[in-house]
Amino acid sequence: MLEKTTKSPNKWPLAQAAGAASRTARNSILEAVGDTPMVHMARLFEESGLAVFGKLEALNPGGSIKDRAAYNILTHALAAGVISHDTTVVESSSGNFAIGLAQVCAYMGLRLVCVVDIKTTASNISIIEAYGARVDLVSKPDPESGEYLNARLKRVRQILDSVPNGFWPNQYANADNSGAHFGSTMPEIVATLGDNIDYLVLSTSTCGTLRGCADYIHERHMKTKVVAVDAMGSVIFGRPSGKRLLPGHGAGIVPPLFKSDLADIVVHVSDLDCVLGCRRLVQYEAILAGASSGGVVTAIERLAADGVMAPGARVAAILPDRGERYLDTVYSDRWVQEKLGNEALSI
Ligand SMILES: Cc1ncc(COP(=O)(O)O)c(C=O)c1O
Repeated sequence: MLEKTTKSPNKWPLAQAAGAASRTARNSILEAVGDTPMVHMARLFEESGLAVFGKLEALNPGGSIKDRAAYNILTHALAAGVISHDTTVVESSSGNFAIGLAQVCAYMGLRLVCVVDIKTTASNISIIEAYGARVDLVSKPDPESGEYLNARLKRVRQILDSVPNGFWPNQYANADNSGAHFGSTMPEIVATLGDNIDYLVLSTSTCGTLRGCADYIHERHMKTKVVAVDAMGSVIFGRPSGKRLLPGHGAGIVPPLFKSDLADIVVHVSDLDCVLGCRRLVQYEAILAGASSGGVVTAIERLAADGVMAPGARVAAILPDRGERYLDTVYSDRWVQEKLGNEALSI
């Protein structure tokens, strides 16, 4: 039987625990966006000899890196008078950006309509609605192009035409999306690791992260090489469009935020690469992350195996979101076996 204790022992192992001089209360949940920790993933990359540091974007309050873009876009739109408190924000997004927007709109008291399609997971719809946003479901692809993205964008325009003071954040083209990473993500990485960083590895969809971080690196003449990790089947880097199962990274269009000189190295990863990377990440480092983080892990392993990244290199790796949103896919043995075959389960 456990002994009864009269007092909690003061035995917290970390030096930077409660009471550290810099700790202050945030004024709102929005001030809790960003400033995410970096973790030395020493076990996973021990054999390769690389020093790889993962930036845990899962620890943003809405669970992903997209909190930064949502916060930055709406804060600037409000400050510039482009939106006001009677604005209805309308966006085509079914994933992390929708959740980030829902969080910011809930705090700012703005109406939000998220246009989603039938591929959106039930749990994401529940999260978006729990923040108080409205979900508008598009159930058929665009008849001309056969694409859901085009059908969703048409629906966004329809809703904007029908509401007074509508605002479309348009994350694929909005400079405040990449500005979030120029102004927060990359400065935080440099504040943590210094500017002795050989590689920055990140995943791509709207290219907000890529554009903002690469602009920062190039403007400051840092030596850091930018590695963009994209999904196979994504068209961002000029490859043909193809079927992809896992959401988050990749895009069916070349985003206006994209520029061809942003990345020094481009790695394409499959759904299976993402699953394997995620499962190794949790097995070696106990980090339960989303699909694109697995893609980042696999890309680094591949570049190390190919001799592109030499032992001793210092690598910053952005891990964009939480694993909980992928329990029915990446972390479900049944889903993996059914969709990707047995190989994924053999680690
Ligand atoms: C899980 C995940 N990974 C990667 C990305 C890519 O980020 P960006 O849109 O900045 O290119 C996103 C964007 O939504 C994402 O949700």
